[in-house]
Amino acid sequence: MCGIVGYIGPREATPVLLKGLHRLEYRGYDSAGVALVAPTGELNVYKCKGKVSDLERFLDGKDTAGTIGIAHTRWATHGVPNDVNAHPHCSESNRIALIHNGIIENFRLLKDALVENGYTFRSSTDSEVLVNLIEYIRTSNDCSLLEAVQQALKQVVGAYAIAIIEKDNPDRIIAARQSSPMVVGIGKGEYFLSSDAASIVEYTKEFVYVNDGEIAVIERDKPLKVVTLDNHKSRIDIKKLELSISQLEKGGYPHFMLKEIYEQPDTIVDCIRGRINEETLEVKLSGVIDNREKFLKARRIIFVACGTSWHAALIGEHLIESICRIPVEVEYASEFRYRNPIIYPDDIVIAVSQSGETADTLAAVELARKAGAFVFGISNVVGSSIARATDSGTYIHVGPEIGVASTKAFTGQVTVMAMLALTVARERGTISKEYHDEVARALIQLPDTLREVLKVGPQVESLAKIFTYAHHFIYLGRGENYPTALEGALKLKEISYIHAEGYPAAEMKHGPIALIDDEMPTVVIATPDHTYEKTASNIEEIKARGGRIVAVIAADDELVRRSADYTIEVPVITECLMPIVASLPLQLLAYYIAVYKGRNVDQPRNLAKSVTVE
Ligand code: M6R
Repeated sequence: MCGIVGYIGPREATPVLLKGLHRLEYRGYDSAGVALVAPTGELNVYKCKGKVSDLERFLDGKDTAGTIGIAHTRWATHGVPNDVNAHPHCSESNRIALIHNGIIENFRLLKDALVENGYTFRSSTDSEVLVNLIEYIRTSNDCSLLEAVQQALKQVVGAYAIAIIEKDNPDRIIAARQSSPMVVGIGKGEYFLSSDAASIVEYTKEFVYVNDGEIAVIERDKPLKVVTLDNHKSRIDIKKLELSISQLEKGGYPHFMLKEIYEQPDTIVDCIRGRINEETLEVKLSGVIDNREKFLKARRIIFVACGTSWHAALIGEHLIESICRIPVEVEYASEFRYRNPIIYPDDIVIAVSQSGETADTLAAVELARKAGAFVFGISNVVGSSIARATDSGTYIHVGPEIGVASTKAFTGQVTVMAMLALTVARERGTISKEYHDEVARALIQLPDTLREVLKVGPQVESLAKIFTYAHHFIYLGRGENYPTALEGALKLKEISYIHAEGYPAAEMKHGPIALIDDEMPTVVIATPDHTYEKTASNIEEIKARGGRIVAVIAADDELVRRSADYTIEVPVITECLMPIVASLPLQLLAYYIAVYKGRNVDQPRNLAKSVTVE
């Protein structure tokens, strides 16, 4: 999605802005641009379709001097990706430049009113409407830029994070936020601005998160000021963020996705650190312990999430229902928020989101809070909107996930759900000591198990070469491995652009079996569990129809090995955690197929890392 970077201070702004834009590239975008107030007093705006490297080439030989600037990567919503629609957008007089993340829903109405007042527009974007609205209010009311921004934003319906600079004021950036992330980095005598703290973490570890309905007034050599749309002063709450640059780099891997797949043994160590006592096997998630009564009395748990996080929640449903005996529902956040759901005050709504910024999940959180439910967040990004909007929660602590395809966040989410289930089940007395300890032990050993799993890398790479011809794939699994199948299919389709569907293995006979032929491979998760024999029979049914099978199996499995065309062996651990184990070869399969097909693995077409618009 769109990205924002801003700088004001003693340095030349352009290198800081471009570096920040590069760090935001992983989020997905189609054009980029910068605006600077030059020492000559000019407001210079440069933008173009394409990558940040295209912008860098475009800047060659241009006047890029200036110690104040804003920069943007655009992911098209209103208007095709081209040079004109790229941000920054200038007001008609070319005195104000604005960058915008989000969507102004009532932009047509506002645009019509501005056209009636003589304004003309260069682009098809909603963002240009906003910058002209600000200018119109400023000139017609003869007010300050801040007042004009406050009044304009009161007329806006939608989501935004904006940053504005002005030709006549080289000493101030104004930034505002509503339902779209925005953070101010505090340096020594300088300020940084971003929609993602990771893009400016090499300059500062101190951040002020701008809240919904707030405007940050960032002035050279002055303390940061944050006010509301009604001009009430907000408290400045500086947060420290410990992130290292190496976490944001590929570390010798060709792609972030591969790095993140191979990081999983270590990210699981970080995820369980301090949460499981290796001697007593006691599992403690403080977010749960601190709200013990809520979890004890919960009538129901409702997960809200999107994409991969939704798949993790489906596994969470298995874990919680089977060991805590609490009814669980798993909802697409985008559906939940619009269908007037029944939410009881003694429900617990758990929002799952890697980025913590997904617009639909955030809206579902707000809905649940309004309905009086206790809202718990499972997110990765510290200080993210969902982490701040929920009553309590827990971080998965897997470090920044840069590849658009979620990998280590998925396994971290499932690991946290397992720890949550064990914590709650012990408090509720719904789990035997033996089973509790078996799962806790498997969690402690999970990093080593995953190291073992990852040894299949070279084998999966060769397998991938065989399947680059395929136009369709089907993924099958049962029980907690049905979500694993969904996740495997999502990974493949999003980065290789091969059509892939996940199904519960038994559902296959109710329609998808018609698709089976020797051109459509079927990937089956057939590790030993209480439905193993049934899955093995489904494999026979596919074989009988000429289908080609890739099966994820246990090392000692002879039955499925005989029927499958290709097998990938994985170690077997306690059944409820097998989705974590089985998902790694599926991540690798998707990765290598995409690489062989020459796809842009880390930034697949049309996709964004964090979906901050609905
Ligand atoms: O940041 P979130 O977990 O809320 O993101 C949800 C989905 O957008 C995300 O999981 C998406 O499906 C990924 N590209 C999957 O790999």
